[in-house]
Amino acid sequence: MPSPINRRLFLGRTAGLGAGALFVRAAGLEAVPSRGGIGRTPIIVTSHSNETGQRAVQDAWGILSSGGSALDAVELAANVIEVDPEDMSVGYGGLPNEDGVVQLDASIMDGRTYNAGAVASLEGIKTPSSVARLVMERTDHVLMVGPGALDLAKSFGFEPEDLMTETSRARWLEWRENRSDQDDWGPPDHLKDREEAQLGGEPAFHYGTVNVLAVDGNGDVSGITTTSGLSWKINGRVGDSPIIGAGLYVDNDVGAAGATGRGEDVIKSCASYFIVERMRAGRSPQQACEDALEMIRRRYAKVNPAFMPGEKFVALNKDGDYGCAWSYGGRGIPQMSVRDEAGLQIYEGVRFGD
Ligand code: GLY
Repeated sequence: MPSPINRRLFLGRTAGLGAGALFVRAAGLEAVPSRGGIGRTPIIVTSHSNETGQRAVQDAWGILSSGGSALDAVELAANVIEVDPEDMSVGYGGLPNEDGVVQLDASIMDGRTYNAGAVASLEGIKTPSSVARLVMERTDHVLMVGPGALDLAKSFGFEPEDLMTETSRARWLEWRENRSDQDDWGPPDHLKDREEAQLGGEPAFHYGTVNVLAVDGNGDVSGITTTSGLSWKINGRVGDSPIIGAGLYVDNDVGAAGATGRGEDVIKSCASYFIVERMRAGRSPQQACEDALEMIRRRYAKVNPAFMPGEKFVALNKDGDYGCAWSYGGRGIPQMSVRDEAGLQIYEGVRFGD
């Protein structure tokens, strides 16, 4: 029998968790029914569930398990993913803009100090999240862009490099040769009809992004969102990832949230801030992610009821509970990598709208 204290803790932390049929699956073990991700601090999660995402949280666990900070842990994990040449959504090898130039966006937030830093349209640096950390810790600013952000990076010893790989260049050349009306010129997606807005098969654009969120042994919360942004974007376009409150938000009293997907939707809805505020109001991380998708859907419904925005949200609260949800029809169940003292897990969240 659990002690009364443990039982109260258990009831307090599981009551009211997400409505969907969720699964938490320990790596290599059978799926176990669950109603939301329930972890223990210290803990680190990422929106990437692939091999690189798993390696990222495993490596960062070394920092958390030895008493290190959530801030150092999220930076290390983000760097592991940013330097992976195979990952075309972020850092080195990320897909370029329409001119064939890789422009990176990233943000970082430190709940302990209520501090934040971000870079946008940064060229030539594989690890934009580390430059965002410099903005946060070594300047009195929050967001730096383009050449100014690059100058800052160079002043701290970063060497600019070509961020295109053979694969990303080939993808860009292919796109340029086949481009038609599938670009950012013209009306925004939500004002097109459903057939045009919901592109079938291989999507014409890629919004891939990485979120990393952590709570350390002191209960301090940090997060990073980093991306090469929307592929083939118009030169200079900035997405949600470097916008504090949109692509990332951290509150040391509550937890953290991050977004991937169509940045334009996330900026207009201040979605990460919304999720953190939902958690402050008592919603579980899983519920709060679903709340954000419903909030965005309702806003578009007034303009075009057929439009379904494409976002993925991940959230982690101060107790170590977590959740994720997305609104991509036909793309399976959203996942995230989770590392705490129980080991590495792949968590499966909720596909919104099912
Ligand atoms: N969420 C990434 C972007 O829209 O750039």
